[in-house]
Amino acid sequence: MKLNSLFIVLDGGDGAGTTTHSHLLKGFLENKDFKVHLTREPSRNKIGVLLREFLRNKDIPATTDALLFAADRDLHYHNEIKKKLDEGYIVISDRFIESSIIYQSVQSNKISIDWIKQINKFVGKPDLTIILDIDPKIALARKTDKALEKFEDIGFLNKVRHLYLTRAEQEGYCIVNTDDIIELVQEKIQNIVIAKLD
Ligand code: TMP
Repeated sequence: MKLNSLFIVLDGGDGAGTTTHSHLLKGFLENKDFKVHLTREPSRNKIGVLLREFLRNKDIPATTDALLFAADRDLHYHNEIKKKLDEGYIVISDRFIESSIIYQSVQSNKISIDWIKQINKFVGKPDLTIILDIDPKIALARKTDKALEKFEDIGFLNKVRHLYLTRAEQEGYCIVNTDDIIELVQEKIQNIVIAKLD
């Protein structure tokens, strides 16, 4: 078993495939004998469960969402992610702070990126952030669950996509387009992770 703590985040707009690719990446790294911990946000703690419920409720103020996502992340980072990193695991998180920066700042023009960074400032930074990019039209067409969550709206997701791409360029994040078949997209993600591990 190889010990090699590394904090990897897969982020991107709804339907970009962060969940599918996080699972595939975990399997790939475990086959290479790494210890891997897979997690996600909203997390599995009580605040995360409440947030999943709020994703179906359009009456929740964007500021409340932002504060709850930050609280969920704070607890998730300190009680789960940091512990696993200290034990030498590779941690893969399906979404992290970049989701708050993008979604909550697009949700309301009262919310600035600086404020999101402030309320999230007690969590550690990922070592590697990979942005999965998808055209929202394709993403929404792929959906099998007909009950849409509040962010699954084409106009909103176009703004989300634009901001992910702008910030990825500013921050030097890797961008992987997910129009291709899953195997090819996953191979691109694996190559980025292997290069980072080397
Ligand atoms: P998902 O698990 O299907 O990706 O859904 C999570 C939804 O929550 C997605 O629409 C993005 C949104 N979200 C935020 O708005 N802010 C956040 O900080 C996080 C982690 C997720």
